[in-house]
Amino acid sequence: MKIGIDRLSFFVPNLFLDMTELAQRRGDDPAKYHIGIGQDQMAVSRVSEDIVTLGANAASKIVTEEDKELIDMVIVGTESGIDQSKASAVIIHHLLKVQPFARSFEVKEACYGGTAALQMAKEYIKNHPERKVLVIASDIARYGLASGGEVTQGVGAVAMMITKDPRILSLEDTSVFLTEDIYDFWRPVYNQFPEVDGPLSNSTYIESFQKVWNQYKAVTGRSLADYDALSFHIPYTKMGKKALQSVIDEADGVTQERLLARYEEAIVYSRRIGNLYTGSLYLGLISLLENSEILKAGDRIGLFSYGSGAVSEFFTGYLEENYQEFLFKEDHQEMLDSRKELTVDEYEEVFNEKLPEHGASAEYTSDVPFSIYKVADNIRYYKEN
Ligand code: COA
Repeated sequence: MKIGIDRLSFFVPNLFLDMTELAQRRGDDPAKYHIGIGQDQMAVSRVSEDIVTLGANAASKIVTEEDKELIDMVIVGTESGIDQSKASAVIIHHLLKVQPFARSFEVKEACYGGTAALQMAKEYIKNHPERKVLVIASDIARYGLASGGEVTQGVGAVAMMITKDPRILSLEDTSVFLTEDIYDFWRPVYNQFPEVDGPLSNSTYIESFQKVWNQYKAVTGRSLADYDALSFHIPYTKMGKKALQSVIDEADGVTQERLLARYEEAIVYSRRIGNLYTGSLYLGLISLLENSEILKAGDRIGLFSYGSGAVSEFFTGYLEENYQEFLFKEDHQEMLDSRKELTVDEYEEVFNEKLPEHGASAEYTSDVPFSIYKVADNIRYYKEN
């Protein structure tokens, strides 16, 4: 039985910051941001947006009335949780009006959480082929103003419907995953921003890719030539390229050219959005599918997922007939093009805004479909569509 991604879409807030502006304010050469890091713009969220609103907005595009009766699980992968106990998935389940006899929960392992959710969904559909699982990867990637990681921030969510006979990408069964207890990036519960060892996170990412890829080759006998494209977790667009380049010499010239060209197509959206943490790999996949004129049905794509701490996985899928018809290319383009550009002062002001804490109240207005309209008695109230 074929199981995989039947629909997928992303959502980002309607504000962004230009990286040239940020570089100039921070006293850096803009070329470092655009070329060295590979980021042109950064998505910025308002205080009335959180992982619930981002996830619900991403999912509302793909969830039909029929789906609401067929979804058995809503799983949110995130590392930007808003509550130590209650899962954001429960609120998203409510906002999307999914039938009540469903499981809703959150999974966490840094940027790997979305992949854990996806693989769990795949296993569930194997035993319940007539049902559907909604997987959401939603995050607000923040390192702090003027911090080393500021240039790699971003905000947004990806939603994926996992079903049998998927219309976009069928997932193959063999995958290789790896766990190593490493402190390259983590966020103690009392921290607003993560602790980061940037150089260690870069090297662990690349070494993890090499380890799962080498193991995958040993298990399957496949090589780079068997892939039409590779899609990477993209904390910033230079990162995945470094991992790809670290193994590219294994391939013949034609394969090298193909994989490097597809890589550029996979980073079109990330260059304009930044890091989505759990959603970054899947934003890259959407970018690849929506911006490649070369890919076609039957093509095989390899996906590398990495979550600091560290868990990684290499898994694969192939494209279904007419998959292009089920994408949201124009909607996504329009969403990116219609965003408002912020000055650095405006960005810093929005960045420093906080929701009220410890029982205090506030009300908000917003034209974003799902957004927070009130906080009172330690509860966030969400505007419904
Ligand atoms: N023009 C062009 N390139 C420039 C440049 C300039 N003027 N100045 C610097 N660069 C290049 C550097 O050579 C480097 O390229 P390389 O990595 O290919 O050698 C790149 O820009 C980054 O420079 P670096 O000095 O390493 O940046 P940094 O000390 O500011 O740190 C990160 C970069 C990514 C480590 C930091 O932003 C971070 O910690 N991010 C969060 C963690 C993260 O995303 N980790 C990824 C794995 S999960």
